[in-house]
Amino acid sequence: MNLNIAVLPGDGIGPEIIDQAKKVVNAIGNKFNHVVQFKHGFVGAVAIDETGNPFPEETFELCKSSDAVLFGAIGDPKYDNDPKAKVRPEQGLLAMRKKLGLYANVRPVTTFKSLIGKSPIRQDLVQNVDIVIIRELTGGIYFGERGRSDNGNTAFDTNLYTRPEIERIVRLACEYAMNRSKKLTIVDKANVLETSRLWRETSQDIVKEFPELKVDFMFVDNAAMQLIQAPGNFDVIVTENMFGDILTDEASVITGSLGLLPSASIGQSTSVFEPIHGSYPQAAGKNIANPLGTILSAAMMFEYAFNLHKEAKIIQEAVERSLEENFVTEDITQTNPKSTSDVGDWIAKHIMES
Ligand code: IPM
Ligand code: MG
Repeated sequence: MNLNIAVLPGDGIGPEIIDQAKKVVNAIGNKFNHVVQFKHGFVGAVAIDETGNPFPEETFELCKSSDAVLFGAIGDPKYDNDPKAKVRPEQGLLAMRKKLGLYANVRPVTTFKSLIGKSPIRQDLVQNVDIVIIRELTGGIYFGERGRSDNGNTAFDTNLYTRPEIERIVRLACEYAMNRSKKLTIVDKANVLETSRLWRETSQDIVKEFPELKVDFMFVDNAAMQLIQAPGNFDVIVTENMFGDILTDEASVITGSLGLLPSASIGQSTSVFEPIHGSYPQAAGKNIANPLGTILSAAMMFEYAFNLHKEAKIIQEAVERSLEENFVTEDITQTNPKSTSDVGDWIAKHIMES
């Protein structure tokens, strides 16, 4: 099969972790006779430096003409510390999501046996955790009207959702849950927010199409608590953009490392695969960042974009093996940690030899 992949390394540790995912994709290509072609594009702070635009038109065209997008990370401290900056790297990520119509962000949270002791949560609670959080990605407060008044001393952000936006993401989550254990938790704040009441109303209609599904509605504050107290009770969770952003970072600690979580963003155009962590600028260029979230995102790419399940499975198994053998970066082990590129090489080699 021909695999035309747009590669957007982005900022900070992005280029280093993306290099490891490329090694792994090449290893799979060699093993299964797929013809892999990578084409690189700029996004984020590097794109601002190169073109003035955090998501340049050429990058957009590249994404549209590719079969999948492999994405690293975005963000640069020089913008974080400058709230007055007119252009920000994060706008590149948001523009990419919006322009490619990536309305569904799928973030699986699974525990790895060998890492259970690393979780800050009690072992008996995190064993067998297998959750998928489906986050709405192109609406809500991230994209609503925002601004300042009162000479800049008053600020507002608008949370806005339309019924069709809610319908498509809730339907996707229902279908997803039907292929798993038929359990869906819909998270909102319907006791306070009007947008959440529309979510609940719309969801109640949609779930009628899936009579076999066991559906729970949960307020986001309660969900945040239950995720830590009893993560094993969740299966598929669907929620709006901002709640999903927060809950997925929270859920990531269950696995013991934020560096491990992959994601797939799917929608109307080419899908994007990226780790859920940020650009970790303190580690940039040091060859210490954990590449596993990105490598597992490449596994999701084989599954979601190419429908190549065996390939995805082999990558996941190789990652598990590297964890079992403690061939991992310093965020996971203090004893003899390996570099980013060593981990990438090890996994690519393991794939070739398996
Ligand atoms: C994420 C990130 C982004 C978000 C940032 C970098 C804009 O935190 O993908 O979760 O808030 O969506
Ligand atoms: Mg986030």
